[in-house]
Formats: sequence, structure tokens, C-alpha cells
Amino acid sequence: MPEYKLRINGTSYSVDVDSDTPLLWVLRDELNLLGTKFGCGIGQCGACTVHFQGAAVRSCLIEVSTIGISEITTIEGLSEDGDHPVQKAWLEHDVPQCGYCQSGQIMNAAALLIENPKPTDKDIDNAMSGNICRCGTYVRIKQAIKTASNQ
Ligand code: FES
Ligand code: FES
Repeated sequence: MPEYKLRINGTSYSVDVDSDTPLLWVLRDELNLLGTKFGCGIGQCGACTVHFQGAAVRSCLIEVSTIGISEITTIEGLSEDGDHPVQKAWLEHDVPQCGYCQSGQIMNAAALLIENPKPTDKDIDNAMSGNICRCGTYVRIKQAIKTASNQ
């Protein structure tokens, strides 16, 4: 199997995997970065969202051979102490229920605020619509994003 060198959360890793292995599998099965969740595996739920070149992407859809030297950030690397404004707002609003979708929600919200620091309700709805929460925490997610956007 080919060897791939990856930059994830500021650390360099080397993995031996098939070229079409999705990044999500590399994160969870090869590197034990379990904060990124496997939901649908086909780009439909958002549970696997990470940052790739500073934008939110579905890691289940990115083949390892296409990543190159681009920096990947997972929920483990979003902040050193869980003090990213989005994470603080999530705590303030007590957003998670079961928690399964939440790292993907947080990574998507953080990417939204990089691109658009003061999103409107519609901007938030548009940006977050692909992140599914079976527990229905959408109202608190939206409140938390608005709080984070004011920090
Ligand atoms: S696991 Fe990637 S979008 Fe659902
Ligand atoms: S908090 Fe349970 S799926 Fe979102």
C-alpha cells in the first residue's frame, strides 16, 4: 500500500493505506482521532465534518490520495483548551443531546464564522442545513452560533 504524509492539527502523520481510503477512515481507524464521527459515509449527514484548507468538508468524501500537504483540522485541533468561541457558545447554550453529530456541527459552524463572522439567520440556516441532528438540537445550535458571532 502507498504511504501518505498528512498534516493534521499541526502534526505530521504517515499512513499506509489504499489510495482511495476516505480521510474519515484514516482519522478514525489509522490515527485514533475519534472526535470525527462516522454517520452515513456518503456525504449526507455532516457528522464527519473537518476543515480542509480552512473550509468545512465531509471527510467521508475525500480520498487520502487527494489531500497532499494541505492542513486538516479536526475537532481535536480546533482549539487547545476547548476555548474556541463556538465551543464556549455550545457550552453556554448546553447544545448537545446525545452528542453524536456535535463535532461535525461545531466544525461546520466554526468554518461558517471564518467565512462570514456576522451571519444572518438565513446564512446560518443555509450553512448548517446539511448537518443532521437526529436529537433535534437545531434551535440551540442556531442560538449558539449567534452568540459566537458576537464574541
Ligand atoms: S459520515 Fe460523512 S457526511 Fe455522513
Ligand atoms: S445531539 Fe444527538 S444527533 Fe445531534
